[in-house]
Amino acid sequence: MSSKPLLKLESIAEENPHYLDPEEYPGWREHFGNDRPITLEIGFGNGNFLLDMAVRFPEYNYVGMDFYHKGIRRLFTRLQRLGLENIRVAYGDAKEKVPFLFQEGELAEIYINFPDPWPKKRHHKRRLIKPHTVACFREKLAPEGRLRLATDHEPYAMEMLEILNQDSGLRNLHPAPGFTNLREDIPRTKYEKNFLNQGKTIYYLDYVKVPTA
Ligand SMILES: C[S@@+](CC[C@H](N)C(=O)[O-])C[C@H]1O[C@@H](n2cnc3c(N)ncnc32)[C@H](O)[C@@H]1O
Repeated sequence: MSSKPLLKLESIAEENPHYLDPEEYPGWREHFGNDRPITLEIGFGNGNFLLDMAVRFPEYNYVGMDFYHKGIRRLFTRLQRLGLENIRVAYGDAKEKVPFLFQEGELAEIYINFPDPWPKKRHHKRRLIKPHTVACFREKLAPEGRLRLATDHEPYAMEMLEILNQDSGLRNLHPAPGFTNLREDIPRTKYEKNFLNQGKTIYYLDYVKVPTA
């Protein structure tokens, strides 16, 4: 019995104007053909949240960044069916590519939902949230732009809280203890639904970029 071959990422790249493997600033205004505010999701996984957001908020443009091939293929299958024009997928590692992918102040929002916690101590260096990555993400946000994160991993939540609170260009939107365990204004991600079904506590962190004088 012959099985249908999985669609290769390269063929998506060739055929699909919504896919980028960027090596330089793409010029988002020209790329989207409009100047709507841009939201970035780093690590979109299977892309559920990105798609749901793009449907719910058509007045925004969405850029998703990930390097998970299976997730990208799944997202494109559904994207084709839905025919959404306000999504682009930028392939790659956010640590390497966000520095050149957006101009200063170009993003309205950044979402980082359930970043890999790398629980083993010797792997902590691989975590996405570090003072220098936060400084980079903050630089890309417009004044009053939002950085929103979620994790089920308490130690990583506390580490992120400490790093983010120390960035003087960001203001924490939650009073002490500095996070909330409920986020109901936006769609749920795949991981979020799974963790909630398991009864796990989720830590939501929300920051706004402090406008400079
Ligand atoms: C734990 S999954 C969460 C997926 C999704 N956000 C959700 O909540 O269902 C983490 C995702 O982040 C991606 N990822 C990890 N590090 C990344 C990086 N440096 N740049 C871009 N994506 C990354 C992984 O490939 C994976 O798809």
